[in-house]
Amino acid sequence: MFQHLLSVFLVLLLLHQFTFVNSKRELVTTPPLPVLPLPTYAQLKWQQREIIMFLHFGVNTFTDSEWGTGKENPAIFNPVGLNANQWASVAADSGISLMILTAKHHDGFCLWPSRYTDHSVIRSPWKDGHGDVVREFVNAAKSRNIDRGLYLSPWDRHDPRYGHDLAYNQYYLAQLQELLRNYGSIREIWFDGAKGPNAPNMSYYFGDWFAMVNELQSSINIFSDAGPGVRWVGNENGFAGSTCWSMINRTSLSIGNASIVGYLNKGDAKGTDWLPPECDVSIRRGWFWHKSQKPKELSELLEIYYNSVGRNCVLLINVPPNTTGLISETDVRRLKEFRNALDTIFTTNLAEKSYVKASSRRGGKDGGFGPENVLDSDHLWTYWAPSDEDDKDQWIEFSEENEGLRFNVVRIQEAIGLGQRIKRHEIYADGKIVANGTTVGHKRLHRLRQMVHAHKVRVLIKGSRELPLISSVGLHFDPFWHPKRALGGNETVLGE
Ligand SMILES: *[C@@H]1O[C@H](CO)[C@@H](O)[C@H](O)[C@H]1NC(C)=O
Ligand SMILES: *[C@@H]1O[C@H](CO)[C@@H](O)[C@H](O)[C@H]1NC(C)=O
Ligand SMILES: *[C@@H]1O[C@H](CO)[C@@H](O)[C@H](O)[C@H]1NC(C)=O
Ligand SMILES: *[C@@H]1O[C@H](CO)[C@@H](O)[C@H](O)[C@H]1NC(C)=O
Ligand SMILES: *[C@@H]1O[C@H](CO)[C@@H](O)[C@H](O)[C@H]1NC(C)=O
Ligand SMILES: *[C@@H]1O[C@H](CO)[C@@H](O)[C@H](O)[C@H]1NC(C)=O
Repeated sequence: MFQHLLSVFLVLLLLHQFTFVNSKRELVTTPPLPVLPLPTYAQLKWQQREIIMFLHFGVNTFTDSEWGTGKENPAIFNPVGLNANQWASVAADSGISLMILTAKHHDGFCLWPSRYTDHSVIRSPWKDGHGDVVREFVNAAKSRNIDRGLYLSPWDRHDPRYGHDLAYNQYYLAQLQELLRNYGSIREIWFDGAKGPNAPNMSYYFGDWFAMVNELQSSINIFSDAGPGVRWVGNENGFAGSTCWSMINRTSLSIGNASIVGYLNKGDAKGTDWLPPECDVSIRRGWFWHKSQKPKELSELLEIYYNSVGRNCVLLINVPPNTTGLISETDVRRLKEFRNALDTIFTTNLAEKSYVKASSRRGGKDGGFGPENVLDSDHLWTYWAPSDEDDKDQWIEFSEENEGLRFNVVRIQEAIGLGQRIKRHEIYADGKIVANGTTVGHKRLHRLRQMVHAHKVRVLIKGSRELPLISSVGLHFDPFWHPKRALGGNETVLGE
């Protein structure tokens, strides 16, 4: 009896506590509706990586060429010091979370022991023909918690089936199945439309290939000129358009069509498909390692970063292993400098302690969409939203009455989980315009022509698809940026 009473008492106590908590809970304002199209989960993950590493490696590494002929003797492939753990360490130390390897380039030589050809590591002296570069790459990346991606060149200058549509497409699909079934989770697969002049009419059965990829891998992004996961940016310099939408009309795209590069570079404000661009560029002039080449200067890498990541793209930087099978020390050092520079510039947000206000806020003071959200560490799901009535020239303003704000870089990020919206924006320092632009997207960076010292900094939205939603704003100092030098030595740097 006593026990029974006790349990009744406990139940009552629990119920009481439950209703107590419930009645105290503040209900927050609902988020605004999204503006379609939206990214998929895999696309959103990909975008947040910001920098991906490409590794071009194969017989070309040993012949000092960029495009092999397909006639290379597999005996030349002998990277005696190959250590994929070094590749993974270099990536990890550079803050890179995905690496993509060329499993096969245009020359047709396979870095894994494919059962469908003997033009592969099997016939090389490396590990007496028992090696598997793809396996070593995958294992090393896994051990450093780095995701894996692969490139399997459609163009094949070695295989005799190339040029025969049915036989070659079956061969290609067979290899896709080997790579996507036997090497664990693959997060990105890279396709291009390059074709041999000997077989200009060769058709690639992209429809079959993509369906097979999606069947075998659940969180993969398919890269090609036309997606469907990620699109090419239209050049190999690493530069996106100063207007760059993640949206585009896939129906206007085709793979290997030179007349669409401008469209790929900018995207389409009215585009019906979410298909963001990836900027592929090599740390050196060539894609494969050449003894005679050197890595790009730090200033060039930063220029590329501002024009790719800083324009709503992901940067795919190629770092080619050398004939030893290792990433050269010069490249390792340059990547480290690059990472250190990015950390130096972006770790500190000079606006962090400033007072922030906005033209309006959704749901009023306690709605949960206040402008202070742009200064927290969540750059996606907490954001400033103006009120529904605030439908023209919305703004957000940072003030620092005493010391003022000193910066030469402005960073703006949209809450892209609810669609890409901003069409035009301007930035003012104490009422004077210091930068302007069109799209923002995941991240927009402005390097200013001069150091700015101001007490009030305002970001003004001059046009957007529905209301703008801003997830983060940063004011930064880039000590590596010398506009004086970059602009030819004549620009007056006004200082403060
Ligand atoms: C490719 O197709 C075109 C047009 O159908 C034809 O004129 C040409 O001879 C073909 N080329 C080859 C190499 O088969
Ligand atoms: C290439 O793109 C242009 C412009 O969209 C289009 O008119 C043309 O038909 C495309 N060519 C091919 C081969 O798909
Ligand atoms: C893309 O598609 C939308 C919707 O059909 C259309 O309004 C827009 O004009 C298209 N863009 C181009 C460049 O054709
Ligand atoms: C490749 O890079 C490694 C590591 O930096 C270096 O020790 C080796 O000498 C390089 N090999 C060649 C051929 O340059
Ligand atoms: C930025 O300002 C310049 C100079 O006033 C103007 O020519 C340009 O059109 C503006 N760009 C945007 C996107 O507003
Ligand atoms: C630099 O200044 C000199 C002298 O004032 C002038 O002649 C020259 O045109 C300027 N160059 C540039 C790139 O503005």
